[in-house]
Amino acid sequence: MKSIKDVNFAGKKVLLRVDFNVPTDEYRTITDDTRIRESLPTIKKLLSDGASVILIAHMGRPKNGVDPKLSLDHVAQYLGLLLKQQVLFTHDLLGDKVTEMVNAMKPGEIMLLENIRFYEGETKGDVALAEQLAKLGDCYVNDAFGAAHREHSSTAVIARFFPNDKYFGFLMENEIKNLQYLLDKPEHPFTAIIGGSKISSKIDILYNLIPKVDNMIIIGGMRYTFTKAMGGKIGNSIHEDDKLDTALELIKKMDEAGVKYYLPIDCVVVDRFANDANRMITKGDEIPDGWEAVDCGPKSSELFREVILQSKTILWNGPAGVFEMHNFAKGTNNIAKDVAEACGHGAFAAIGGGDSVAAVKQMHLADRMSYVSTGGGAMLEYLEGKQLPGIKAIME
Ligand code: 3PG
Repeated sequence: MKSIKDVNFAGKKVLLRVDFNVPTDEYRTITDDTRIRESLPTIKKLLSDGASVILIAHMGRPKNGVDPKLSLDHVAQYLGLLLKQQVLFTHDLLGDKVTEMVNAMKPGEIMLLENIRFYEGETKGDVALAEQLAKLGDCYVNDAFGAAHREHSSTAVIARFFPNDKYFGFLMENEIKNLQYLLDKPEHPFTAIIGGSKISSKIDILYNLIPKVDNMIIIGGMRYTFTKAMGGKIGNSIHEDDKLDTALELIKKMDEAGVKYYLPIDCVVVDRFANDANRMITKGDEIPDGWEAVDCGPKSSELFREVILQSKTILWNGPAGVFEMHNFAKGTNNIAKDVAEACGHGAFAAIGGGDSVAAVKQMHLADRMSYVSTGGGAMLEYLEGKQLPGIKAIME
């Protein structure tokens, strides 16, 4: 790996791609700063070497160029507070003003460029934009794991302008190291806990994990596609009729590979989709018409706990229920507690995906997990076995 660890960047202008695409509320207040904090070790290393650091980042998915609601101005201020030093910023897009500011930067200074997705070329992987960016620096460091599955100008294409001066930042290195451990040499038993609403978004990861895991716990909305495919009654629960064959095929593959798979044996069902709806517990495959499942039930939690506590390696991606509604968060919260407990007994657990990470943080358990990924889609694609463009660009 081309790590920044062994390089001294004194006097260099370093272009550092970070993923500062953090959640914000309606007032643009940052509600979860993990991605910014996780980039600090890389930023601090470069600054303490005496580099001038030019940060490139995106926010949201602007449709038509500049959108003030998606400016990074507040992120620059926030980062300044964390670093206890000024973070230079201008709303101007690339051009004379930005070039002048960059040229005037001294060693140890840092600047954040405006949302790179304000340029139409970014998401198209435009080479001219990548070149324009490249002209601002002497070398390129990619620490934006969360955006590494995007083949964009600033995440991948730009690297070709620095054939001998491109590196991974610490965050990126750590993500790769941990995910590669899961794929290459996990200690057994290895349990994957895969949830979320749709099986369609998890098919590739399920196929890729089957040859590697001992146990597969399938939770969340996607389990009802499995249950329906197996002839169970799912009432009005979420499912994908066009994926019933895929579910059966996955079951066959798990059987052939000797993977033990677990679906919730009971679930919380409601008569309407609301936190205060009437609710009851039913068997996992006997949900009456007119009712829909929103969480796994207590017996399932007990069963999963047993499996989790016996595991030496755990991967968890996707919630067990409609975690945003607190009456239906129990199944997800129980998994978070059990995985943390397993880590306390020496298991290695990796957590990824928005809701599972949110659950872990909400329960103040993040520090007890071996590793919490900053990537959503990027982590999934990595575990699907794909080579991510942002990683490939640095390696080749
Ligand atoms: C993310 O938030 O997952 C990354 O920043 C990538 O964002 P995107 O899905 O808009 O490309």
